[in-house]
Amino acid sequence: MIETFTELAALRERVRGWKREGLRVAFVPTMGNLHDGHFSLVQLAREHAQRVVASVFVNPTQFGPNEDFAQYPRTPEADARGLQAAGCDAMWLPSVETMYPYGVEATVRVQVPHVTESLEGARRPGHFDGVATVVSRLFNQVQPDVAVFGRKDYQQLAVVRYMVRDLAFPMEIIGADIVREASGLAMSSRNQYLSASERDQAAEIRRCLVAMAEAVGAGQSREAVESAAGERLQAAGFAPDYAVVRRPDLTVPDEGEVGPKVALIAARLGRTRLIDNLEFGT
Ligand code: PAF
Repeated sequence: MIETFTELAALRERVRGWKREGLRVAFVPTMGNLHDGHFSLVQLAREHAQRVVASVFVNPTQFGPNEDFAQYPRTPEADARGLQAAGCDAMWLPSVETMYPYGVEATVRVQVPHVTESLEGARRPGHFDGVATVVSRLFNQVQPDVAVFGRKDYQQLAVVRYMVRDLAFPMEIIGADIVREASGLAMSSRNQYLSASERDQAAEIRRCLVAMAEAVGAGQSREAVESAAGERLQAAGFAPDYAVVRRPDLTVPDEGEVGPKVALIAARLGRTRLIDNLEFGT
């Protein structure tokens, strides 16, 4: 079975041992309830290191008061089996007390400016503070040489890169491609909140992203593209939070600007909030 660590000292000892042997260590942070999207992160991690550690921790500080922290699915046994099959060497399974020894309210918080202000950051106040706070701790706990994050959480990846550069964490950050179901729906632990018919409907998000990229490529204005996407999502039964075109650093592109861009959507379908994105123009 995969080695599972719940004590920080034991995890550190294992990682130190690997490093003494000259092995490169990769890290995949997760909140568990793992699916093929997560396993693809582990596989990518394996390509960049000889040992892979994955963490499973549902982080209370990144959920808002009305979000799904209590309901978030927790499946550690299945996660351990899946990680083992994906080629992971160790699972880090800290308790809330290990992660936040002074308690969640009294914890040292990491706040990343600028890149957190728009989109998810604007809709989910405090979310990225919680992500930066836990990811910085996880990095200090695991001390990897490289860490892998999915590009589905596009803004999260930008936040992590900003933090790593600014706080000089001695590690490389790798963004992994989005893994999709056959319908085009991006894999997410939250997809299991969807009913069967909502799951079919949810594939519209990807189609809408493709249409946005094509419309920008055909010379339509950003504002026209964004408002058409919002209307399309509403007509398909979604309550969109945003459907926007941005530069890779998430700033607003000038009209007619050439170069790489990303279309990003966040929309609710019933009680489920879905996010997805598509990079284009590269
Ligand atoms: O993307 C996630 O699953 C989480 O935000 C992360 C990076 C594991 C931090 O809790």
